[in-house]
Amino acid sequence: MPPSYFEDPAPGRGSLAPRAAFASDARAVSLNGTWRFHLSPSLAAAPEGMHAEDFDDRAWDTLPVPAHWQLHGHGKPAYTNVHYPFPVQPPEVPSDNPTGDHRLTFDLPADWPDEPAVLRFDGIDSCGRVWLNGSELGVTKGSRLPSEFAAGHLLRPRGNVLAVRVHQWSAGSYLEDQDMWWLSGIFRDVTLLSRPSGGVADYQLHAGYDHVTGEGALSVTAADGVLLSVPALGVEDLPAGETVRLPVEPWSAESPRLYAGVVHTAAERVPVRIGFRTVVIADGQLKVNGAPVLFRGVNRHEHHPESGRALPRESALADIELMKRHNVNAVRTSHYPPDPYFLELCDVHGLWVIDESDLETHGFGDLGWAGNPSDDPQWTDAYLDRMRRTVERDKNHPSIVLWSLGNEAQTGRNLAAAARWTRERDPSRPVHYEGDFECEYVDVYSRMYADHEEVDRIGRQEDPNARRRAMPFLLCEFGHAMGNGPGGLLEYRELFERYPRCQGGFVWEWIDHGLTRLDAEGRAYFAYGGDFGEQIHDGNFVIDGVLHPDRTPSPGLVEFAKVFEPVRITATAGGIRVANHYDFLSLEHLSFSWAYEEDGVAVASGDLAVPSVHPGQSAEVPLPPLPDVTGEGWLTVRATLPEATAWAPAGHVVAWGQLPVVPAPLPPTAATGAALRFEGAELHLGAGTFDAATGLLTTLGGHRVHGPRLDLWRAPTDNDRGSAPSEESQWRAAGLHRLQHRVAAVKRREAELVVRTRVAPPGLGFGLLADYHWTADAGRLRLRVEVEPDGEWPCTLPRLGLRMAVPGSFGAVAWFGAGPGEAYADSRQAARVGRFARSVEELQTPYVYPQENGNRTDTRWLRLTSADGAGIRIDGEPLFDFSARRWTSEELDAARHTVDLEPGELLHLNLDLAQHGLGTASCGPGVLPQYRLHAQKAGFTLTFTTVDGPA
Ligand code: GAL
Repeated sequence: MPPSYFEDPAPGRGSLAPRAAFASDARAVSLNGTWRFHLSPSLAAAPEGMHAEDFDDRAWDTLPVPAHWQLHGHGKPAYTNVHYPFPVQPPEVPSDNPTGDHRLTFDLPADWPDEPAVLRFDGIDSCGRVWLNGSELGVTKGSRLPSEFAAGHLLRPRGNVLAVRVHQWSAGSYLEDQDMWWLSGIFRDVTLLSRPSGGVADYQLHAGYDHVTGEGALSVTAADGVLLSVPALGVEDLPAGETVRLPVEPWSAESPRLYAGVVHTAAERVPVRIGFRTVVIADGQLKVNGAPVLFRGVNRHEHHPESGRALPRESALADIELMKRHNVNAVRTSHYPPDPYFLELCDVHGLWVIDESDLETHGFGDLGWAGNPSDDPQWTDAYLDRMRRTVERDKNHPSIVLWSLGNEAQTGRNLAAAARWTRERDPSRPVHYEGDFECEYVDVYSRMYADHEEVDRIGRQEDPNARRRAMPFLLCEFGHAMGNGPGGLLEYRELFERYPRCQGGFVWEWIDHGLTRLDAEGRAYFAYGGDFGEQIHDGNFVIDGVLHPDRTPSPGLVEFAKVFEPVRITATAGGIRVANHYDFLSLEHLSFSWAYEEDGVAVASGDLAVPSVHPGQSAEVPLPPLPDVTGEGWLTVRATLPEATAWAPAGHVVAWGQLPVVPAPLPPTAATGAALRFEGAELHLGAGTFDAATGLLTTLGGHRVHGPRLDLWRAPTDNDRGSAPSEESQWRAAGLHRLQHRVAAVKRREAELVVRTRVAPPGLGFGLLADYHWTADAGRLRLRVEVEPDGEWPCTLPRLGLRMAVPGSFGAVAWFGAGPGEAYADSRQAARVGRFARSVEELQTPYVYPQENGNRTDTRWLRLTSADGAGIRIDGEPLFDFSARRWTSEELDAARHTVDLEPGELLHLNLDLAQHGLGTASCGPGVLPQYRLHAQKAGFTLTFTTVDGPA
């Protein structure tokens, strides 16, 4: 039996040849809006004759178009990373194949021209069959790719009936196994376009730039009679096929100079934006306009927490603004061409783009790649069709510097053929595909999640494969941003900067794909795999972005912005070094200012004169005149935008650096001398009361407290849970989540309380000896903790510090230390030294899957107060880390969604000497050796005081 159209591995049928996406002065009407909709569980159950003009759809539901029907109460979203959620029997799909019938009746505008017309669908997931006024136009596959159908001959002024039957599963689904939600429907724009006879059918702009002469070479390939005009360049009516050379300003992601032009015939005018740039691979480097570029990139899926991949334009713009503001300079459109609007924004605002075809067959990996379409001739047309539609649609974007064949489809003839076709069609851009491990048909060597050591080897040219060695190297994915992380970005940057052929990478990934849901009490939270009752799913592996689902930057993005800032400001022996890490720009477009703080309080500020510094160079600037201070003095230098740009307001901080000027004064003499008093079951020392049996502090200045006690546990992060044997599994095997504290002795000395304990897991022989030494003077209570491993420790420690609980009313937090955001040993570049104030609520990072978060580092002192100003202050000798939350680490560990976390009555404080780093083991390397925390002999000291009013 011949396969049904949706199970046919061939591309769709009936559509017009792919062409560039553009809007012209020809008439167009959007057919977005409210359509009639009916979902059937299978094709067999779908209504007969729904395509007929007189079909009665009045009893149907309505559905907005564009949309995914699963996000409007029809069916449910499902998430898998690699596995196909149906039996793998290509090209067949389940007979229980949800079928969404869509109908729209529309009139033409009164002055609609009597000309040919096309119906354009920018994206239908996964297969659509289209009828207009009862006649079939064709079938489209390739969910994230456009299809156009000739429609003019069927149109009438009023009462046109457009019917689209969409199948959730099709042969195309085998090629669309990207790590994301399975969501169906007409999810991108539907447009009816008039196509005037004698108009511009298609065009390809060529705008190369010769960096030696400063000349652009401009031409347009199009049908005879098509002309190009660019008024700002004095180019008028340049016929298709002819080239002009003339001095121009080049386009780059850093300086996205576009020239407005028009491609025209007598019948149609197409406004275009031209960016001059030439991409080449030379000397083993990818160069644009003669200069090697460093990709500080992200992988971007299109996602919105309510509308999925039907992305509102505001969200596309928000993505661009957020990227530019966080020093992202490149995007890989993982793993399909984005909505065309996004690429327009990339041209205008400046981002390097790897445009990727809509292709992934990862699930065949589960079968040892048996039957993988990439090497099967029956799929060749589908592979070529997808690539062709990608390249033809997007060929005129200066922002696109590489074409990518797809993702994780292993290797095979069809990919090689797609590479060949692409190179022939568009020799102006190199071809990327990570899965061509031997680099047989690609132009750049690309890897995902290679660890630092391997990148170092690649940089050192130790690769035995000569083809690969000769190519530029990039990490198409790195820095897996799942949950709390990524850690280790700084060390990647150092490698990218050390080796000229290592040209950067693309963090995985831009945004968490959480979907908004309400719990029984109507509280919103973000759902992930499994939350919709899926039988097969990959849980929260879809929550791995540097943006939370609502587009709030996560600490990972703030860290990225700092690590990859294009200007680096550091201290030198006598002054300030300002290094220019742009690829093209000098520093003249920035203003520099300085601010001097004593103990976190501003004492002086001013502008800093920085000479023009060329890319790759640096200048040394003398320190500004600074007033004398007695406290700790830090100079902060900021590079800001003097004027608003299209993507950020004036004053936006592009880069900053902090220079220590005056070290912290010696700590005040230790609090000692107060006598220890023994009364009943209590001990009194200075402001503290202790339980005489356990030696635990019970009140501090009259406030009830619990602890502090040694604490090693943290609610594991996604990265702690990653790669076997995971840190988490080792920690749990070692019982670190259920340590027991044995009080060996409570020693009462004249002016000191010493509590000796052994902290150890049940059923195991090793532990930590922890001694608490308490002393006090009139106002201060001082604790010195000494720890020492007892026995052989089998694993790292999540944290080493103290935990205590204080009254819940102490919800106002102020500190002098690193901030304002959370920071961890291997993700702390974005934290600066200063004085900060936050509520306890604001200290939490609401990771979609709850886990350790909110740690503040290098704290000198911390104050927790209630509304009336009463509370406590904790001073380090000299530094400590802290976190404060309204639930315990155990509650955080047990929570699966943010709404599981219910504030309790107490505030739980962690006061740490150190925490284990974050790493990226959820997908990629774990914590680098220098950031791993081991059980070791250690000591640290804190001083507690009470505060009575505002400091
Ligand atoms: C890569 C893949 C991505 C994503 C990532 C893990 O292998 O290309 O699509 O699945 O792993 O989050």
